[in-house]
Amino acid sequence: MSAIERDVVIIGAGASGLTAATKLRAAGLSVAVLEARDRVGGRLWTNHIDGAMLELGGQWVSPDQTALLATLEELGLDTYSRYREGDSVYVDAEGVRTRFTGDIFPVAESTAAEMERLITLLDELVEQVGVTEPWAHARAKEYDRISWSAWLAEQTDDVEARDNIALFIAAAMLTKPSHSFSLLQALLMAASAGSFTHLVEADFILDKRVVGGLQQVPIKLAEALGEDVHLSNPVRRLEWSEDGVSAEADNVTVNARYAIVAVPPNLYSRIDFQPPLPRLSHQMHQHMSLGLVIKVHAVYETPFWREDGLSATAFSPYELVHEAYDNTNHEDPRGTLVGFVSDERADEVFKLSAEERRERILTSLSHYYGEQALSPVVYYESDWGSEEWTRGAYAASFDLGGLSRYGAMQSTPVGPIYWSTSDLAAEGYQHVDGAIRKGADTAEAIIARHQA
Ligand code: FDA
Repeated sequence: MSAIERDVVIIGAGASGLTAATKLRAAGLSVAVLEARDRVGGRLWTNHIDGAMLELGGQWVSPDQTALLATLEELGLDTYSRYREGDSVYVDAEGVRTRFTGDIFPVAESTAAEMERLITLLDELVEQVGVTEPWAHARAKEYDRISWSAWLAEQTDDVEARDNIALFIAAAMLTKPSHSFSLLQALLMAASAGSFTHLVEADFILDKRVVGGLQQVPIKLAEALGEDVHLSNPVRRLEWSEDGVSAEADNVTVNARYAIVAVPPNLYSRIDFQPPLPRLSHQMHQHMSLGLVIKVHAVYETPFWREDGLSATAFSPYELVHEAYDNTNHEDPRGTLVGFVSDERADEVFKLSAEERRERILTSLSHYYGEQALSPVVYYESDWGSEEWTRGAYAASFDLGGLSRYGAMQSTPVGPIYWSTSDLAAEGYQHVDGAIRKGADTAEAIIARHQA
């Protein structure tokens, strides 16, 4: 086992850790990045499966994600728009499929009016609570005590309106059941994207993709860092004192002045901190957990839905696949659909055999696009819950009451140890943009302390 000396050791070569390492090095500090996997990128993973290029993790870029957009520009990466010509599809509680345009689902007029009223109300609450310190709002505790589903039930008796509004945060973002997190947590999720309206606008939130895949961001950052990125080196133990740290990975030990733990919070306890972290950290970390979603990829010889005038954008709070889109790669003659199965529905289908699960999922896709959806040439399920170094998707959120209780402390360094990941971000929370912002902010804080 070799031992090396650096100013900063970064644990985790995801977008956040690699951004921090890049900024620190640019400021003249020496770094070493220790990564558990045999690849960089963490929750960004562009892979080839049965001859199809698939984005197994994060992929979309929206116009508000200015930190990510700036990084793409710096790295010389091109983007292209998600295909969105034609009608979207909605399936109601009775299984009736309706085509529509715009953002409001084709529901009864009274339900549509309720949805619009709730969206306006949520936009106002998001504005009041803000993104940087939702826990500091005068009504934070009150908003953190009530679940997202219970709050919606208080607002309207229109079940379809609240099922649809619930979907935008629960199944589609936090990937947890709507009874398991608070209104405050839901408001933070919307605030991190600029407004609740932005979450409803698929053309905004799922605007662009990167030619060749979003994993190129971490790959290019890591290339520039060269030999300072050590793959297949999970950090098992982190000794620390006010004077510095010693990070022990499988093949290398890094002695440094500071550490950045750039892994999702559910994995903090995989590291043996010596001495142990303070009581507050131990408690706080147990209230942050990842959601669960299966990202389904189905590739067809052609994007057949386009001939039928469909954009492939599809939603239903009543379908196994609650949302789906055209995910055809740039200049690819084949057509790709991507769909998502979240939280308790994912639990349910994971109990089935792989064949039965595939059949259930493709049947759900056929409710949106017709029988042709049943026969893809390539089919794949991204299963991040089984990934040892992630254990869920998309990202972490607090349980009921956790955000107001612990949020203010979630990024506070412990001695020389800093925390950086999209799961702790304000703007871009849970997204690559947030990972980059958090990495840059953490680097800045260390640089300032180092120079003081
Ligand atoms: P990330 O988890 O990427 O990196 C942490 C790294 O630490 C990993 O490489 C891990 O292996 C490593 N690690 C863990 N423990 C370790 C240890 N003990 N020692 C050493 N290394 C260790 N975002 C978006 O903007 N647009 C999108 O469309 C989507 N869609 C999406 C789909 C799916 C299926 C997923 C899973 C995620 C998304 N996201 C997304 C979210 C986005 O991918 C995510 O927020 C960021 O990539 C997180 O980057 P971080 O660097 O914070 O963590």
